[in-house]
Amino acid sequence: MTASPAPIPSGASTSASDPSAGTAALTAVVTGASSGIGWATAQRLVTEGWRVLAVARREDRLEQLAAETGCEVLAVDVTSDDSVDALVRRVGELFDGTLNAVVHVAGGALGVETAADADLGKWQRMYEINVLGAVRVTRALLPAVRASGRGDLLFVTSIAAQEAYPGGSGYNAAKAGEHMLAAALRLELNGEPIRVIEVAPGMVRTEEFSLVRLGDQDAADKVYDGVENPLTAQDCADVISYALGAPHHVNLDLITVRPLAQAAAHRVARHQGV
Ligand SMILES: NC(=O)c1ccc[n+]([C@@H]2O[C@H](COP(=O)([O-])OP(=O)(O)OC[C@H]3O[C@@H](n4cnc5c(N)ncnc54)[C@H](OP(=O)(O)O)[C@@H]3O)[C@@H](O)[C@H]2O)c1
Repeated sequence: MTASPAPIPSGASTSASDPSAGTAALTAVVTGASSGIGWATAQRLVTEGWRVLAVARREDRLEQLAAETGCEVLAVDVTSDDSVDALVRRVGELFDGTLNAVVHVAGGALGVETAADADLGKWQRMYEINVLGAVRVTRALLPAVRASGRGDLLFVTSIAAQEAYPGGSGYNAAKAGEHMLAAALRLELNGEPIRVIEVAPGMVRTEEFSLVRLGDQDAADKVYDGVENPLTAQDCADVISYALGAPHHVNLDLITVRPLAQAAAHRVARHQGV
């Protein structure tokens, strides 16, 4: 939650450059907004004039986000049908049942066990959040996105969806699943005014991602050891905002974004000043 770097220069400033957006503020649901990339994205979209409903499980964090940005918030667990039903009702109340964008950020990794030592509980949980959570929210909110006449479904996956690495198989599989969900949706929605956008980041230094994955702060800090400039949550929010703000006929369907120091998931230049 540090200050944002300069935004990517663009012709991509939402309604101003896009006649199809009309004059009303665009509306978005951002999942996973209680920390990291989701928090920065909600913050960024509000700054750009979007009306944002930010969701995650932790209400106290969401209240803090609401106080800082003025966005709407709701405690939602994407793994629960009841919780996602409540989200649909709230979209109905706030935005009259129409929604321009769903930004799926809720997700994460659990553990670094090899496949030989796979912890199936962790695999299951990763699948539930990253894949089933994303499709549950998509299925529930698609009618509102359709009703908007100008929709976007944006999925934050990972380079882990593209490149396997030792100790990554559970997360690789979950994020590859989310990638395929996005790819199939793009085919199924072809012909409708709904873009399906995938943003696949590499190493992003957020407060919680590696802590949640590894369970202790020292181990989490080691992930970024010697990397002077990993991506930040704000870098990802810049990319998301650029993709959402492009004229609506321009579909940046898969954006892979890494820090300069990272050539592949498992190839990172450390202590080399980049
Ligand atoms: N950091 C990286 O290096 C990196 C790289 C590539 C991709 N990504 C992906 O980017 C996304 C965000 O990562 P991040 O670094 O910002 O991590 P983060 O700070 O740990 O954020 C994860 C978010 O997901 C929410 N979440 C988790 N389970 C949920 C559930 N059942 N229902 C609703 N919300 C849930 C968390 O909020 P609550 O706990 O409050 O629910 C939190 O807001 C994830 O999908 C991650 O896989 C991260």
